[in-house]
Amino acid sequence: MAPLFWKRPVVVERGEGVHLYDTEGNEYLDFTSNYGVAITGHCHPVVVQAIKDQAEKLLSCHGSLYNQSRSLFMEKLSEMAPRHLNKYFFSNSGTESVEYALKLARKATGKKGFVAMMNCFHGKTMGSLSLTWKKKYREPFMPLLQDVSHVPFGKADRLMNAINDDTAAVILEPIQGESGIIVPPEGYLNEVRDICSDKGVLMILDEIQTGTGRTGRFLAAEHSNVKPDVVCLSKALASGFPLGATLCTEEAASKLKVGDHSSTFGGNPLACAAGKATLDVIQDEKLIKRAEIMGEYLQTKLQSLLDYICVREVRGKGLMLAVEMKFDALNVITGCMEKGLLVLDAGRNVVRLLPPLVLTENDADKAVEILTEVIGAEDSARKGGRAA
Ligand SMILES: Cc1ncc(COP(=O)(O)O)c(C=O)c1O
Repeated sequence: MAPLFWKRPVVVERGEGVHLYDTEGNEYLDFTSNYGVAITGHCHPVVVQAIKDQAEKLLSCHGSLYNQSRSLFMEKLSEMAPRHLNKYFFSNSGTESVEYALKLARKATGKKGFVAMMNCFHGKTMGSLSLTWKKKYREPFMPLLQDVSHVPFGKADRLMNAINDDTAAVILEPIQGESGIIVPPEGYLNEVRDICSDKGVLMILDEIQTGTGRTGRFLAAEHSNVKPDVVCLSKALASGFPLGATLCTEEAASKLKVGDHSSTFGGNPLACAAGKATLDVIQDEKLIKRAEIMGEYLQTKLQSLLDYICVREVRGKGLMLAVEMKFDALNVITGCMEKGLLVLDAGRNVVRLLPPLVLTENDADKAVEILTEVIGAEDSARKGGRAA
């Protein structure tokens, strides 16, 4: 592979539920879900069976033809997604889901500019990269889209001032994921909605990480009862099979004409079968409620880590949680891995937890036990002056 990834020294062979197994027979509790993807757990039997069944019938079907697997998925998605967002564009990743939203916003409004949030992450292809906040991602690839400004996340007055006559859309994550599980102040999304409506610009919600039930609602926007104009989904939508979906209103969708945008693989029967099975499992096993309940359970248990002076904060919503350290979190992340717990980073000093929603109390307890051991050891080492 091109040398683009920080590699962990583990060869993963198979997965089941919340567990991954390496080629040496070691078991890991997976609190990453592969970056928020394996929402129904690894290899959920219903999802696997749906993929097998579809694979025997038809693998590919271009968007210019109708297909039953796609229709069934869209029907299911329309049951769970907001009713006013009744047109879908299908792609294969999060960043592609954002790319369509950007083109849609420009055509639907006839304007060019975008306002995004400081510390946001929307992807790394040239369009979405123009919005992504971190300079280290953007600067080597300049020039990107010209008309993008960034405002502080959670400050409605700053957003108001940043919108001008040429702004097409405001784009934001309801909870910022990559930058450390940043939850905005209560009512903020409602203020953003009002500002966008007043100023006649589209509100695009990037729910690629927060969506599909992770925060205890199908969309995190539902916590605030907010109605965005466009929603970007991907990651968990097909339990690990590549699938992106951009949801928008019929009116906005009608502004892009045949040929204005496309994707060869978008909405292929295999991805749609995996997507439909994922939504079925989420509904049948009441995983959204489970995310809420287990999220509260886990977050309460994690509070005990605040006894260590190197832990600054525990936060998040549903099963999208963070333990913020007062120093670089890398030692904690590798320490957990050595003890059989996979966790993610988010920014320099945040340990991010995105476990599958099928998480049990036992697995949650085990993870907290490992985190306590590793953070406890780190705390003692630092108190002892190892690395002040
Ligand atoms: C909020 C958000 N938007 C967009 C993306 C990009 O998704 P992908 O890596 O599938 O292109 C990510 C990925 O982490 C994300 O978290």
